[in-house]
Amino acid sequence: MPLFLSLLRQIATHPVAWQDSPMGLSFRVLLVAALAVGGVSGRAAEAAHQSKAPARSSWGRIGDGSVEIYTLTNVHGVEARITTYGATLVSLKAPDRAGHFKNIVLGFDTLEPYLGATAYYGATVGRYANRIAKARFTLDGKTYQLAANDGPNSLHGGTRGFDKRIWQAEPLPASEGNGVRLTYVSAAGDEGYPGELTAHAIYRLDDHDNLEIEYGSTTTAPTPVNLANHAYFNLTGDPGVPVLDHVVRINADRFTPVDATLIPTGELRAVAGTPFDFRTAHVVGARIGDPDEQLQRGHGYDHNWVLNKAAAGITLAAVVTDPKSGRSLEVRTTQPGVQFYTGNFMNGKPAAGGGSVFAYRTGLCLETQHFPDSPNQASFPSAILRPGQVYSEKTILAVRVVK
Ligand code: BGC
Repeated sequence: MPLFLSLLRQIATHPVAWQDSPMGLSFRVLLVAALAVGGVSGRAAEAAHQSKAPARSSWGRIGDGSVEIYTLTNVHGVEARITTYGATLVSLKAPDRAGHFKNIVLGFDTLEPYLGATAYYGATVGRYANRIAKARFTLDGKTYQLAANDGPNSLHGGTRGFDKRIWQAEPLPASEGNGVRLTYVSAAGDEGYPGELTAHAIYRLDDHDNLEIEYGSTTTAPTPVNLANHAYFNLTGDPGVPVLDHVVRINADRFTPVDATLIPTGELRAVAGTPFDFRTAHVVGARIGDPDEQLQRGHGYDHNWVLNKAAAGITLAAVVTDPKSGRSLEVRTTQPGVQFYTGNFMNGKPAAGGGSVFAYRTGLCLETQHFPDSPNQASFPSAILRPGQVYSEKTILAVRVVK
């Protein structure tokens, strides 16, 4: 068996790989070795590319505002496109094992379909990503009312969240990498949230095929903050093909079960013995139809996993692979949770703006974030930012190839 495959097999069959133990450490070393071997041979097939400065072009107008698109390219030909509308990741081109590049993120070629789209394709969601129960929360004794845009709850920042705003952008100075820095100032009272929040999103692509997404914020009054990227991945590169054959691993021993409106009950439930156990690699579709109450409530996977964090800093959240093409994506993050959503509400119906024809389960999201409804759940890690504090979170999407 080739070295790479045998390393991967050892990792896949050994759940201890995720744990912080001496055994875990040695398996992490194996993982790195396997990825290095896979990465090198995958790249050998690629033609040499020049690393270019970020390219910026105009992408249309919304009223008085002009929208831009930035293209980041690295030496291997990996390419990320980011628009200032919603600080949205429009596309991410990644090679298969034969070196053929395809876009692995669902999105559109033009601005117009984004204006009518309702599924947050590739967007930066905020001020609070995910759900807030009954669209309200109490902070320092005061209750704040938000728009209920998902049944009784508030979802992804409300009626006009950060995904529907034009962000200001500038290329990063070369000394800070190959990237773009986007800024949005959310006024006090914006969508019902207190305090003026200055939010930053930085997308940075390096020559090791890592797309880093960094979020930062400061505020003038205490407020909940939860910023997350909402890319739908389809590693086949064909947006018409469902993602049920993708293979996923999630570095989590527990998840947050939900009520009928997808609000966490507050329990951190062990994944062991459930269809939510992705500590070893599982095909997405293998258990998605199991007669499990939680799967029924989510209409599939639409839940937050509690990431195993041995230490602060950036750790592995998940790995998703398309075994057929060999395209693989490793997600690392500083965030405490990841919402794994299998596109259960996608229906292939064109959205109001036209063009949104992505069908049922043709994309999956791995939204690294704070837990849903944290502002109402005292036992969850706090998602409150106060004046003088700096909110800072980072997620890396590492483009990889497996044999
Ligand atoms: C939510 C889903 C929702 C989707 C698109 C996800 O983050 O968990 O329930 O349908 O976003 O709106």
